[in-house]
Amino acid sequence: MRQIDLSGKTAIVTGSSQGIGLETAKTLHAAGANLVINYFDDGEGKNRALADAAVADFGDRGLACAADVRQPDQLEAMVSKAVEKFGSLDILVNNAGILRDKSFRKMSHEDWQAVIDTNLTGVFNSCKAAVESLSENGVIVNVSSLSAVTGFFGQANYATAKAGVMTFTKVLSKELARKNIRVNAVAPGVVNTEMGESIPEENRKYMMTQIPLARFAEPSEISDVILFLCSDLSSYVTGQTIHVNGGWWA
Ligand SMILES: NC(=O)c1ccc[n+]([C@@H]2O[C@H](COP(=O)([O-])OP(=O)(O)OC[C@H]3O[C@@H](n4cnc5c(N)ncnc54)[C@H](O)[C@@H]3O)[C@@H](O)[C@H]2O)c1
Repeated sequence: MRQIDLSGKTAIVTGSSQGIGLETAKTLHAAGANLVINYFDDGEGKNRALADAAVADFGDRGLACAADVRQPDQLEAMVSKAVEKFGSLDILVNNAGILRDKSFRKMSHEDWQAVIDTNLTGVFNSCKAAVESLSENGVIVNVSSLSAVTGFFGQANYATAKAGVMTFTKVLSKELARKNIRVNAVAPGVVNTEMGESIPEENRKYMMTQIPLARFAEPSEISDVILFLCSDLSSYVTGQTIHVNGGWWA
């Protein structure tokens, strides 16, 4: 049976000090990759401490690196550090994201812009910073959301950004195919992370009734699909969004 082996490959996972990003970093590391844990420096040291703890477990195959995905220069510096330490860049997982849920009438321009800047422009920024350094046969995986196709109430900003990520994924897959770089996305439903748990209890109860598998996802159920997309087992898959949502299409 073919096994996934990412030995000698280097991956950057944005926003990976916690949640789906951290689980993805651990999963790719366990498959042999060198890992750059990108964290957002929140000024309180929380994300840095989480990133440092993860990297301590990764030994020589880990590097913690602060960068705000809204800041192209910080992302360029991170890519340079990754290549300097590990010699190549082969995998980019664009995972960083935020929520600022409000109904449209209550949503401020700032709520709109913050989510577009982080969840959509942030993906553009990190691809831009990485593209010239990504090796031939490199891989990009973007984290979208079920909300991109359902348009959940209160998520005009988030759903729009995540739909943009899906379309961006298709365009980039065509443009980077000549370098044999594959570009795909995963679109989770609700996942048991800080973000998933921030959804009001009443909404979570209703959502649960819509999910055929009748539960939310564990982060590892998303990171396993990302691992597949980062591996040669998906060598003919590009431009796709893989929906990981327990069968939920409401
Ligand atoms: N949890 C869910 O239910 C769910 C569902 C669908 C999609 N997603 C998506 O999955 C991804 C991960 O979400 P999660 O559930 O792990 O949430 P989370 O809130 O636990 O993690 C988000 C991470 O992004 C980081 N981040 C935020 N702004 C950043 C910035 N400007 N620069 C760098 N990093 C930044 C945070 O510090 C954090 O580490 C997000 O893109 C999210 O939209 C989550």
